[in-house]
Amino acid sequence: MGDKVSKVKGTNDFLQEEAKKFIKLEGMVHSIMSSYGYNFIKTPAFEKTELFVRSVGKDSDIVNKEMYTWLDNGKTSLTLKPEGTASVVRAFVQNNIGASSPINRLYYVDAFFRRERPQKGRFRQFHQLGIEAIGSENPEQDAEVIAVAYSLCNHLGLSNVVTKINSIGSSEARASYSQALKEFLIPHADKLSETSRARMDSNPLRILDTKIPDEIGLIKNAPVISDFLDGDDRKHFEDVLETMESLGLKYEIDPRLVRGLDYYNRTTFEMVSSDLGSQNAVLGGGRYDSLVKDLGGKPTPAIGFAAGIERLILCMNQANQSAPDKGPDVYICLAGDDAIKAGAPIAKQLRDEGLTVVQETLRRSIKSQLRDANRLGSKWAIIIGQDEVDANTVQLKSMDQGGDQSEVPSGDLLKRIRG
Ligand code: HAM
Repeated sequence: MGDKVSKVKGTNDFLQEEAKKFIKLEGMVHSIMSSYGYNFIKTPAFEKTELFVRSVGKDSDIVNKEMYTWLDNGKTSLTLKPEGTASVVRAFVQNNIGASSPINRLYYVDAFFRRERPQKGRFRQFHQLGIEAIGSENPEQDAEVIAVAYSLCNHLGLSNVVTKINSIGSSEARASYSQALKEFLIPHADKLSETSRARMDSNPLRILDTKIPDEIGLIKNAPVISDFLDGDDRKHFEDVLETMESLGLKYEIDPRLVRGLDYYNRTTFEMVSSDLGSQNAVLGGGRYDSLVKDLGGKPTPAIGFAAGIERLILCMNQANQSAPDKGPDVYICLAGDDAIKAGAPIAKQLRDEGLTVVQETLRRSIKSQLRDANRLGSKWAIIIGQDEVDANTVQLKSMDQGGDQSEVPSGDLLKRIRG
C-alpha cells in the first residue's frame, strides 16, 4: 500500500451530515435568491492579482499576507480568489452587464482562499454565498440587501444572531476621520502593538478591528466616524435604518465597525453569532459605490454581502437544524447472474418514472442487501432472484417496520409502488 496523502491544513472535507447541510443550505439559497430576483453568477477560481490589490486594497490584511499568489509561466501574477466582490465587479465591467439593465442583482456560492491561521470557523479554503446588487445608490437597496441576509438566517433557524451596522461615509469623511484617529492615538503610540503602530501610517481605521484587550480599551475613547459624516451620508444612513425598522429588522449601531476591505463606503454591516467562537462573523457586507468605476466601468453604485458557509453550518449545528434524511424510494436487491442482468433495466425504468433508485452492485447476500436498504432509509426493496426472472415478477417488500412482501408481476410494479 502506498503512503496516505492528507488534506492541506485549513481545508475541509464535507462528509455525511456536513455534506447534507451544505446541499440543504445551497438549495435554500437558490430559492431565497430567486424570491428576491437575484441571478446566479459564476466567476473563475483565480484572477489576476492586480484585481484584488486594486479593490480589496494593498494595505488590507487579505492582500498583504493572506493571498495564494503565484507567477504563472514566469510572467503574470495570478491569485486564488480570496473574496467574491472583486471578481463579480470585474465580470460586470468586462461583459458590459450594466448596458442591458440599469440594475443587476447577482449572487454566488463559491470557494475562496485565504492563508489565515486556521481555527474554529476560520479556514484556508472556505465557502461563501454572496450577493451583489449593482446599480442603485438608494437606501431602500441597502435595506433590501440586509433583508436578504435576515431572510437567510431565519430560514436556517439561527436565532442568536445580532446585526451590527454603521456608516463609514465618503472617502473624504474617512480621510478626515483617519487623521483625527491618528492624532488621538499618537500620544498612546508606546502602548500600541507593533501591528497597530504600523497601521497608524498605512491604514489607521484598521486599528479599530484590534482584538487586543488593552487596545480595545484605548479605542473606546477615540473619536467615532459618525461625527465626520456629511449631511447626505447621514440622511442616507437614517433612511436605511428607517426602512429596516419598517421591515422589523433589528440592528445595533456599531460606530467602530469599519470592515477589513478597502472598497466600502457609507453602509457597512455584519451579523455576528454567539454560537461561534472568536470568529463570530456569520456574514459581512456594505456599499461600494466607487468600485465599478475604479475597475474601469461607468460609475455605478453597488452594495452586497457574503456569508461564510462553514460558519452558517456551525450555527445550524447549534440550532439543531439537521438536514432531513431522505432515503431512496427503491433499493433493488439482486441474486444470481440473470437477476444481475435484469437489475439495471428495471432501475432505469423506475428512474425514468421519477423515482429515486439504488441498485446493488456488490453482489452481496440478499440479507446484507436488505440491511443496506434499511440503513439508507429506502421505502421499498425489490428482490429479484432466478425464480422471479423466470416468472417475470419481482418480490416487492415494504421497508416500514413489519412491512410485508409480495410477488408482483414486473408490469404492475410501478402501479403497486405508487399505490
Ligand atoms: P468578508 O467579511 O471578508 O467579506 O467575508 C464574509 C464572510 O466570509 C465572513 O463574515 C465569514 O463568515 C466568511 N469568512 C471570511 N474569511 C473566512 C475564513 N478564512 N474561513 C471561514 N469563513 C470565512 C467579503 O468577503 C466581502 N466580499 C463581502 C461583500 C460582498 N461585501 C460586499 N459584497
